[in-house]
Amino acid sequence: MTGTNAVHDPALARALVSLAPPAILVDHRLIATGDENALLAEEADTIPSSAIAIRRASGAARIVGRGLLDRLGCPRAALPRAASGEVRWPPGLVGSFAHDERVAIAALARARDIAALGIDIEPAAPLAPEVLDLVAIPRERPAAANDPLRGRLLFCIKEAVYKALYPRDREFLEFHDIAVDMAGQTAVTRQGRALRIALGVATHVVALAWIETAGLQKG
Ligand SMILES: CC(C)(COP(=O)(O)OP(=O)(O)OC[C@H]1O[C@@H](n2cnc3c(N)ncnc32)[C@H](O)[C@@H]1OP(=O)(O)O)[C@@H](O)C(=O)NCCC(=O)NCCS
Repeated sequence: MTGTNAVHDPALARALVSLAPPAILVDHRLIATGDENALLAEEADTIPSSAIAIRRASGAARIVGRGLLDRLGCPRAALPRAASGEVRWPPGLVGSFAHDERVAIAALARARDIAALGIDIEPAAPLAPEVLDLVAIPRERPAAANDPLRGRLLFCIKEAVYKALYPRDREFLEFHDIAVDMAGQTAVTRQGRALRIALGVATHVVALAWIETAGLQKG
């Protein structure tokens, strides 16, 4: 692999192509040695961990995030982490980061189009049965029993929903506070927030959750 291909997982890249509606940009990067050096001075102090693997993953996410700023035609900017965890985007933008030990991923949109946006990435592997009970509400469990990856998809979607809503509502959510309608591609919280969801499945599972600004104004 050479050039830009070296930073992409081809199967994941294919899964991301049609994941999001046009208003939302999504990209990923294979985390590489040295990505920790991509953290700008304004960002470095906001990453609470001193562990190199975590700083590297956060650096990789910011490389992806700045690439999305370019694609949106916005000036490159520092993307520090707020004390409450979420990334701080420049005014007028909403977005989200996720990473595991291999891949960093980011989603970005203009706030005039999208009011809340969350992304999560997980390995494409079944959840342990005891974790499934923590994640799935009773009505979600029968489908999960018939599909080994279903629990992982629910986990990923609910984390994306939390990341979308927390910066707006400042409310802690448990997994059981979120009900997912996989066929309808929606999720609803106990507090009544309704979000659109999209899933990409390849080497990893990627979930995107969002609320359109127009929908929020009507709701
Ligand atoms: C936010 C949370 C879901 C992140 O999950 P994670 O597995 O630790 O980390 P991920 O790789 O998926 O995502 C990391 C990114 O999430 C973002 N993030 C962290 N806290 C966040 C928050 N409260 N709101 C939105 N985004 C947040 C950050 O940008 C972070 O990247 P960075 O440190 O490089 O800036 C988790 O840390 C958390 O706070 N969980 C409590 C709530 C919960 O899990 N409830 C059950 C599910 S609803």
